[in-house]
Amino acid sequence: MNEQALSVRDAIVNRRSIKNFNGQPVDLENINEILDDARWAPNHGLRNPWRFIVAANKEYVKFQDVLKEYGVPKWKELSEEDLEKQMKNFRAPGAVVFVVVKEDVRQKERLEDYAAASMLIQNAMLLAWDKGIGSCWKTPPFLDNPKFREELGVKQGERIISMLQFGYYDDYPKNRTRTPLEDIVTYYGREEAKEAGEE
Ligand SMILES: Cc1cc2nc3c(=O)[nH]c(=O)nc-3n(C[C@H](O)[C@H](O)[C@H](O)COP(=O)(O)O)c2cc1C
Repeated sequence: MNEQALSVRDAIVNRRSIKNFNGQPVDLENINEILDDARWAPNHGLRNPWRFIVAANKEYVKFQDVLKEYGVPKWKELSEEDLEKQMKNFRAPGAVVFVVVKEDVRQKERLEDYAAASMLIQNAMLLAWDKGIGSCWKTPPFLDNPKFREELGVKQGERIISMLQFGYYDDYPKNRTRTPLEDIVTYYGREEAKEAGEE
Protein backbone atom coordinates (compact mmCIF):
# COMPACT_ATOMS: atom_id res chain seq x y z
CA MET A 1 0.00 0.00 0.00
CA ASN A 2 1.32 3.46 -0.86
CA GLU A 3 1.92 5.75 2.05
CA GLN A 4 -0.43 8.69 2.14
CA ALA A 5 0.73 12.01 3.52
CA LEU A 6 -2.39 14.13 3.20
CA SER A 7 -5.84 13.74 4.70
CA VAL A 8 -8.62 13.36 2.15
CA ARG A 9 -9.94 16.78 3.10
CA ASP A 10 -6.54 18.43 2.83
CA ALA A 11 -6.02 16.94 -0.62
CA ILE A 12 -9.49 17.97 -1.85
CA VAL A 13 -9.38 21.51 -0.52
CA ASN A 14 -5.77 22.36 -1.31
CA ARG A 15 -5.31 20.66 -4.68
CA ARG A 16 -5.01 23.20 -7.45
CA SER A 17 -4.82 22.67 -11.18
CA ILE A 18 -1.23 23.18 -12.19
CA LYS A 19 -0.78 25.02 -15.46
CA ASN A 20 2.89 25.95 -15.11
CA PHE A 21 5.12 22.96 -14.71
CA ASN A 22 8.85 23.04 -14.11
CA GLY A 23 9.76 20.56 -16.83
CA GLN A 24 10.89 17.73 -14.53
CA PRO A 25 9.81 14.33 -15.90
CA VAL A 26 7.31 12.15 -14.06
CA ASP A 27 8.25 8.46 -13.93
CA LEU A 28 5.98 5.91 -15.51
CA GLU A 29 6.01 4.03 -12.19
CA ASN A 30 4.32 7.01 -10.49
CA ILE A 31 1.73 7.31 -13.25
CA ASN A 32 0.96 3.59 -13.07
CA GLU A 33 0.51 3.74 -9.30
CA ILE A 34 -1.81 6.74 -9.63
CA LEU A 35 -3.97 5.11 -12.33
CA ASP A 36 -4.04 1.77 -10.56
CA ASP A 37 -5.51 3.38 -7.44
CA ALA A 38 -7.71 5.88 -9.30
CA ARG A 39 -9.61 3.10 -11.14
CA TRP A 40 -11.39 2.29 -7.86
CA ALA A 41 -13.80 5.11 -8.71
CA PRO A 42 -17.45 4.08 -8.51
CA ASN A 43 -18.92 3.17 -11.88
CA HIS A 44 -22.45 1.97 -12.53
CA GLY A 45 -22.78 -1.71 -13.36
CA LEU A 46 -19.01 -1.98 -12.94
CA ARG A 47 -18.77 -1.25 -16.64
CA ASN A 48 -15.23 0.11 -16.17
CA PRO A 49 -15.91 2.32 -19.16
CA TRP A 50 -12.37 3.72 -19.45
CA ARG A 51 -8.92 3.11 -20.78
CA PHE A 52 -5.77 5.20 -20.78
CA ILE A 53 -3.10 6.18 -23.25
CA VAL A 54 0.03 7.17 -21.37
CA ALA A 55 3.06 9.06 -22.59
CA ALA A 56 5.82 9.27 -19.97
CA ASN A 57 9.61 9.23 -19.90
CA LYS A 58 11.26 9.05 -23.35
CA GLU A 59 7.90 8.45 -24.99
CA TYR A 60 6.61 11.75 -23.62
CA VAL A 61 9.53 13.57 -25.19
CA LYS A 62 8.66 11.94 -28.53
CA PHE A 63 5.01 12.74 -28.01
CA GLN A 64 5.75 16.46 -27.80
CA ASP A 65 6.23 16.43 -31.59
CA VAL A 66 2.66 15.17 -31.98
CA LEU A 67 1.45 17.94 -29.69
CA LYS A 68 3.30 20.54 -31.73
CA GLU A 69 1.62 19.20 -34.86
CA TYR A 70 -1.94 19.18 -33.51
CA GLY A 71 -1.85 21.00 -30.25
CA VAL A 72 -0.53 24.45 -30.72
CA PRO A 73 -1.89 25.70 -34.04
CA LYS A 74 -1.67 29.28 -32.78
CA TRP A 75 2.09 28.96 -32.54
CA LYS A 76 2.21 28.55 -36.31
CA GLU A 77 0.77 32.04 -36.63
CA LEU A 78 3.39 33.69 -34.41
CA SER A 79 6.39 35.62 -35.64
CA GLU A 80 9.74 33.91 -35.14
CA GLU A 81 10.57 36.27 -32.28
CA ASP A 82 7.28 35.66 -30.47
CA LEU A 83 7.57 31.93 -31.03
CA GLU A 84 11.02 31.94 -29.43
CA LYS A 85 9.62 33.85 -26.44
CA GLN A 86 6.70 31.44 -26.16
CA MET A 87 8.99 28.38 -26.26
CA LYS A 88 11.20 29.89 -23.57
CA ASN A 89 8.24 30.36 -21.24
CA PHE A 90 6.69 27.03 -22.07
CA ARG A 91 7.37 24.43 -19.43
CA ALA A 92 5.96 21.12 -20.47
CA PRO A 93 4.36 18.76 -17.97
CA GLY A 94 6.31 15.63 -17.08
CA ALA A 95 3.84 13.10 -18.47
CA VAL A 96 0.43 13.00 -20.04
CA VAL A 97 -2.49 10.57 -19.83
CA PHE A 98 -5.36 10.55 -22.28
CA VAL A 99 -8.53 9.25 -20.66
CA VAL A 100 -10.65 7.40 -23.21
CA VAL A 101 -14.27 6.58 -22.43
CA LYS A 102 -16.66 4.27 -24.27
CA GLU A 103 -19.57 6.13 -25.82
CA ASP A 104 -22.55 4.02 -24.92
CA VAL A 105 -25.38 4.35 -27.45
CA ARG A 106 -27.82 4.67 -24.53
CA GLN A 107 -27.94 8.26 -23.25
CA LYS A 108 -28.28 7.46 -19.53
CA GLU A 109 -25.41 4.99 -19.59
CA ARG A 110 -23.25 7.39 -21.58
CA LEU A 111 -23.80 10.11 -18.97
CA GLU A 112 -23.10 7.69 -16.14
CA ASP A 113 -19.88 6.55 -17.79
CA TYR A 114 -18.69 10.14 -18.23
CA ALA A 115 -19.55 10.85 -14.59
CA ALA A 116 -17.66 7.75 -13.43
CA ALA A 117 -14.62 8.66 -15.52
CA SER A 118 -14.72 12.18 -14.06
CA MET A 119 -14.56 10.65 -10.59
CA LEU A 120 -11.61 8.57 -11.67
CA ILE A 121 -9.88 11.70 -12.92
CA GLN A 122 -10.47 13.52 -9.64
CA ASN A 123 -9.08 10.46 -7.82
CA ALA A 124 -6.00 10.58 -10.05
CA MET A 125 -5.47 14.30 -9.47
CA LEU A 126 -5.75 13.88 -5.68
CA LEU A 127 -3.45 10.86 -5.62
CA ALA A 128 -0.91 12.78 -7.70
CA TRP A 129 -1.21 15.81 -5.41
CA ASP A 130 -0.45 13.55 -2.45
CA LYS A 131 2.80 12.55 -4.20
CA GLY A 132 3.75 16.19 -4.81
CA ILE A 133 2.81 15.91 -8.47
CA GLY A 134 0.59 18.59 -9.98
CA SER A 135 -1.97 17.89 -12.66
CA CYS A 136 -4.47 19.57 -14.92
CA TRP A 137 -7.47 18.23 -16.81
CA LYS A 138 -7.27 19.78 -20.27
CA THR A 139 -9.85 19.60 -23.05
CA PRO A 140 -8.23 21.19 -26.10
CA PRO A 141 -10.37 20.89 -29.25
CA PHE A 142 -7.79 18.70 -31.00
CA LEU A 143 -8.86 15.78 -28.79
CA ASP A 144 -11.70 15.29 -31.29
CA ASN A 145 -9.53 15.76 -34.39
CA PRO A 146 -9.85 12.51 -36.41
CA LYS A 147 -6.15 12.55 -37.33
CA PHE A 148 -5.10 13.02 -33.72
CA ARG A 149 -7.46 10.22 -32.63
CA GLU A 150 -5.95 7.97 -35.27
CA GLU A 151 -2.45 8.84 -34.09
CA LEU A 152 -3.44 7.64 -30.60
CA GLY A 153 -5.33 4.55 -31.83
CA VAL A 154 -8.68 5.76 -30.52
CA LYS A 155 -11.52 3.74 -32.07
CA GLN A 156 -15.01 4.56 -33.20
CA GLY A 157 -17.35 4.54 -30.22
CA GLU A 158 -14.64 5.94 -27.96
CA ARG A 159 -14.02 9.52 -26.88
CA ILE A 160 -10.95 11.15 -25.39
CA ILE A 161 -12.47 13.10 -22.52
CA SER A 162 -9.29 14.41 -20.99
CA MET A 163 -5.72 15.23 -21.69
CA LEU A 164 -4.54 14.81 -18.13
CA GLN A 165 -1.21 16.48 -17.61
CA PHE A 166 1.06 15.54 -14.73
CA GLY A 167 4.18 17.33 -13.63
CA TYR A 168 6.21 18.90 -10.90
CA TYR A 169 5.81 22.60 -10.20
CA ASP A 170 7.51 25.43 -8.34
CA ASP A 171 4.62 27.78 -7.62
CA TYR A 172 1.31 27.14 -5.88
CA PRO A 173 -1.53 28.87 -7.76
CA LYS A 174 -3.37 31.28 -5.49
CA ASN A 175 -6.74 33.00 -5.59
CA ARG A 176 -8.79 30.27 -7.18
CA THR A 177 -11.92 30.54 -5.17
CA ARG A 178 -15.27 28.79 -5.28
CA THR A 179 -18.79 30.15 -4.95
CA PRO A 180 -19.64 30.27 -1.22
CA LEU A 181 -21.91 27.51 0.02
CA GLU A 182 -24.65 29.93 1.14
CA ASP A 183 -25.04 31.11 -2.46
CA ILE A 184 -25.58 27.66 -3.86
CA VAL A 185 -27.55 25.82 -1.22
CA THR A 186 -31.29 25.73 -0.51
CA TYR A 187 -32.43 23.87 2.58
CA TYR A 188 -35.57 22.04 1.69
CA GLY A 189 -38.52 23.08 3.80
CA ARG A 190 -36.72 25.89 5.70
CA GLU A 191 -38.42 28.83 3.99
CA GLU A 192 -41.87 27.35 4.49
CA ALA A 193 -41.09 26.69 8.14
CA LYS A 194 -39.91 30.30 8.60
CA GLU A 195 -43.01 31.74 6.91
CA ALA A 196 -45.19 29.58 9.12
CA GLY A 197 -43.37 30.98 12.16
CA GLU A 198 -42.06 27.59 13.13
CA GLU A 199 -38.43 28.75 13.46
C1 LIG B 1 -13.81 19.10 -17.52
C2 LIG B 1 -12.68 20.07 -17.30
C3 LIG B 1 -12.02 20.59 -18.39
C4 LIG B 1 -10.96 21.48 -18.21
N1 LIG B 1 -10.30 21.96 -19.32
C5 LIG B 1 -9.29 22.83 -19.15
C6 LIG B 1 -8.58 23.32 -20.28
O1 LIG B 1 -8.85 22.95 -21.42
N2 LIG B 1 -7.60 24.23 -20.06
C7 LIG B 1 -7.27 24.66 -18.80
O2 LIG B 1 -6.38 25.48 -18.67
N3 LIG B 1 -7.90 24.18 -17.71
C8 LIG B 1 -8.89 23.28 -17.84
N4 LIG B 1 -9.53 22.76 -16.75
C9 LIG B 1 -9.05 23.12 -15.39
C10 LIG B 1 -9.96 24.15 -14.75
O3 LIG B 1 -9.97 25.31 -15.51
C11 LIG B 1 -9.46 24.41 -13.31
O4 LIG B 1 -9.87 23.34 -12.57
C12 LIG B 1 -10.02 25.70 -12.72
O5 LIG B 1 -9.23 26.70 -13.22
C13 LIG B 1 -10.03 25.71 -11.22
O6 LIG B 1 -8.72 25.70 -10.76
P1 LIG B 1 -8.27 24.76 -9.57
O7 LIG B 1 -8.54 23.36 -10.04
O8 LIG B 1 -6.81 25.05 -9.39
O9 LIG B 1 -9.04 25.16 -8.37
C14 LIG B 1 -10.57 21.85 -16.90
C15 LIG B 1 -11.25 21.31 -15.79
C16 LIG B 1 -12.28 20.42 -15.98
C17 LIG B 1 -12.96 19.83 -14.77
